Amino acid sequence: MVYQYNETAFKTRLDQEAEFTTRAMGTLLPVDEGPEGRLMDAVRYSALMGGKRVRPYLTLNTAALFNVDPKCALRVAAAIEMVHCYSLVHDDLPAMDDDDLRRGQPTCHIKYDEATAILAGDALLTRAFEVLSEDGTHQDANVRIELVKELSKAAGPFGMVGGQMLDLIAHEHDLDMSEVARLQRMKTGALINIACVSGAILGKAQDSSLHKLHGYAHDLGLAFQIVDDLLDVTGDEEDVGKRIGKDEEQGKATFVSLMGVDHARDQAQLLRDQAIEQLEVFGEKADPLRDMAHFVVNRVS
Ligand code: IPE
Ligand code: IPE
Ligand code: MG
Ligand code: MG
Ligand code: MG
Repeated sequence: MVYQYNETAFKTRLDQEAEFTTRAMGTLLPVDEGPEGRLMDAVRYSALMGGKRVRPYLTLNTAALFNVDPKCALRVAAAIEMVHCYSLVHDDLPAMDDDDLRRGQPTCHIKYDEATAILAGDALLTRAFEVLSEDGTHQDANVRIELVKELSKAAGPFGMVGGQMLDLIAHEHDLDMSEVARLQRMKTGALINIACVSGAILGKAQDSSLHKLHGYAHDLGLAFQIVDDLLDVTGDEEDVGKRIGKDEEQGKATFVSLMGVDHARDQAQLLRDQAIEQLEVFGEKADPLRDMAHFVVNRVS
């Protein structure tokens, strides 16, 4: 059958899988009744309320390509989403993007306070690795170590955190297109990449499959950040659930600032098509990943 993107069916699936992830995260991040309970309140506030859950969807659906036990995939999806949520809590801090709205709600440091938001981010990051290392994540300890290693790389100084550093200093440097692409690959692409590749690691997939998923994730991640930057210019604050117009105000280097809205949108569509081409070897089983490539480019939030 010829593949066709059905947005309504996709959104139902995304919502359903988001609900699975949120439930799993709720169990892995329990309420703390002790005097330090404010920390877990802030963690749960930042992790359980909203979010598209794009990264968990990628983990769950790449894992399905290799017939991985969904219970294992869900733990990995939850762990990666914890790292993502931590990155948002810290990204919003006054010392970084200084945002007061996230997922349609006050940001963590506004709802609680800065110190609590820093600790909530720390808690999400460390808990994620604890979850990956636990027996329930995979029966083979080597697989668990591989997941810990790859998520560390993606989140660390040569991945997301390094990209955030570049993002913060970008206004002092005249970045060209390839430097902005590198920044985006690090700050956003790296986590999207591990979200895709983790399914293959869990399924002990062959190198050739892993290679294709890396290609898909590379193009999808860039398209994802280009659209994030587009939404900052053209989006509706209510839909997006965060303040818009901030990138220009803060002098951020983005594809949109370099090539303009129309060209950036063309580029995102090109990357979507390239991402989908990588999936050919997986046949119909990869349709949920094809859907995600369409969603990433069409999304309004
Ligand atoms: C926002 O990510 C931050 C970026 C890396 C661009 P998402 O757009 O996935 O945010 P949520 O999780 O849906 O809130
Ligand atoms: C943040 O990029 C990416 C990470 C949190 C790693 P942005 O600063 O553009 O994300 P938003 O727009 O605040 O969600
Ligand atoms: Mg930022
Ligand atoms: Mg930001
Ligand atoms: Mg942004």
